Amino acid sequence: MTSGFEDFGDAFFRASVTGLQPYQPGKPMEDVQRELGLDRVIKLASNEGPFGPFPAALAAMADAARDLNRYPDGGVFRLQHALAERHGVPVAQVCAGAGADGCIDMLNQATLEPGDEVVCGWPSFASYPIYARKQGATPILVPLDGGHRYDLDALLAAIGPRTKLVYICQPNNPTGTMSTQEELDDYFERVPAHVLTIVDQAYFEYIDRPDYPDAVERYVRAGRRVVVLRTFSKIYGLAGARVGYAIGPAPICAAMAKVRRPFDLTTQAQVAAVASVRDEAEIARRRALNANGLARLEAILREHGLDPAPGVANFLYVETGADATELFDRLLREGIIVRPLAGFGAPTAIRVSVGTPEELELFAAALGRVLARA
Ligand SMILES: Cc1ncc(COP(=O)(O)O)c(C=O)c1O
Repeated sequence: MTSGFEDFGDAFFRASVTGLQPYQPGKPMEDVQRELGLDRVIKLASNEGPFGPFPAALAAMADAARDLNRYPDGGVFRLQHALAERHGVPVAQVCAGAGADGCIDMLNQATLEPGDEVVCGWPSFASYPIYARKQGATPILVPLDGGHRYDLDALLAAIGPRTKLVYICQPNNPTGTMSTQEELDDYFERVPAHVLTIVDQAYFEYIDRPDYPDAVERYVRAGRRVVVLRTFSKIYGLAGARVGYAIGPAPICAAMAKVRRPFDLTTQAQVAAVASVRDEAEIARRRALNANGLARLEAILREHGLDPAPGVANFLYVETGADATELFDRLLREGIIVRPLAGFGAPTAIRVSVGTPEELELFAAALGRVLARA
């Protein structure tokens, strides 16, 4: 006798969900430790960064813990006002979400009908095509240029009458590469008026280069049809809290807020983000530490005969010349978790996040042992 649960055929489910390949997160440290019986495991897989939450965020979360019997503020009032003030935009142009990822999902839910098209570079952040498919929309994946960078000319050429959203991942995850302000200015001069461009700046705070634009300042405030994404998951050390935000045209933010679930942003996420948003000194300190770590990571990879793409964030992308799961597995047995990139459209590449100086040296030693054995 069957329970009846086996009787659901494909027809029961939405066509766009049947066959959907969900996002594959990086391997959790506890799993690796348990499965391989290792004493220490180092995670350089998910670009979170080695820093914890800011001290003020920890204090705010501890304080707020006493009130967890209450639902969070469904309107995200304090955080959205703090972000509006921080960026010098009206609060109607801010929409916070459960991570930048939550914002991508809300944008898709608010705008995409089956048959609409979404254009993005590829390899790039896996949620862009996954969330488009979830809505029954069609992702158009535009190959990166020879330097692993977004090819903005090719992106523009891929835009058609059904295109609603165009993603520009700046810098691009997983390759770490960026387009310059001049190149982005040129894109915005040429992009057709019917599309909404999403400039994903999840790693914005790590980058200190004169040719890297603050897209809120340069494009949102200039009234372009653009949404900029930012997150507290990276330099702010709050990946586990799930909080990010979008800044864009007020009608887009209003539509996103309509599809946001009432309590998507937990109380802890909201108070931690509010406590972090203005601490420029700590951001600058972490940015400098990351710059040192990025240079060291590049040197380690080059010393071992690898040739990383010119990444500007807190991770580097490396072509291995073979199925990258092999190098991933070997490093895993050494207690180092890196990210194989099949799910991002680059099955022969890995991505390595910047860790602490000690973690990077342990990675260097493990890489040396693995490559010597190969
Ligand atoms: C380019 C990009 N966008 C968005 C996200 C999602 O960030 P969040 O943790 O805020 O959902 C990531 C996370 O890795 C990312 O790399």
